[in-house]
Amino acid sequence: MPLDPEKSVADHRAIAARYDHSTRRTNGVRLAAIAALGLQPGETVLNVGCGSGFSFAAILAAIGPRGVLLAFDHSEDLLAIARRHIAAAGWNNVVLLQARAERVDFRPEMTRRGIAPPSALLFSYVHDVMQSEGAIDNLLAQAAPRARVAITSTKLWPRAWWPLCLPVNAYLYQTHERYITNRDENFDRPWAKLARHLAPFDVRVRWPGWRYVACGRVKDTLIK
Ligand SMILES: C[S@@+](CC[C@H](N)C(=O)[O-])C[C@H]1O[C@@H](n2cnc3c(N)ncnc32)[C@H](O)[C@@H]1O
Repeated sequence: MPLDPEKSVADHRAIAARYDHSTRRTNGVRLAAIAALGLQPGETVLNVGCGSGFSFAAILAAIGPRGVLLAFDHSEDLLAIARRHIAAAGWNNVVLLQARAERVDFRPEMTRRGIAPPSALLFSYVHDVMQSEGAIDNLLAQAAPRARVAITSTKLWPRAWWPLCLPVNAYLYQTHERYITNRDENFDRPWAKLARHLAPFDVRVRWPGWRYVACGRVKDTLIK
């Protein structure tokens, strides 16, 4: 199954209305990934594939009013929810773009408003984006040198956990039908392509074995 951005947009349109409710069990690990970034007041943060904006409140609480949150997604339906959160909270330090990860470009807005490049990047449940070399190259090219990266998403149980991994992985495969278009690529190691650009890099698997938080720093020399 190759990456299918049009299916991704259509799938997220279908689940947008109940997205925040149906993803609530991942709230803990998503907050743990944000905490792992060790954000400081005044930082610029890039929220990759921000969806409905679940991560905004925690990021903005950490970076404060002097910080800037850059966020994008290709789903207009989820961005509409994110915009409602921004308006309700009165946040005025969020730059939100509708764009594909392979093409999104924050540089004009950063230049115009004198915003520093992001020193921290959050990849929260964006399996498809992490399987796109074009997206990784485009996003890391806009980051500050040695930017910190935190990753969380669903991973399959290892084959070594046979035979229990069979029903568990079948369950994960089926329940992620609408969230991931290419479950055949790196579903056991979703971070694999991104990790090539990070050093040091560390993965901590969390209960119940299909959740994890991975952290790293962008290498000095980006791999081409
Ligand atoms: C499972 S949702 C996760 C949303 C959010 N990061 C979270 O933690 O709740 C995956 C998101 O990635 C977005 N997405 C997938 N592929 C994308 C791409 N190539 N460019 C931009 N957004 C993409 C989807 O629209 C969706 O909002």
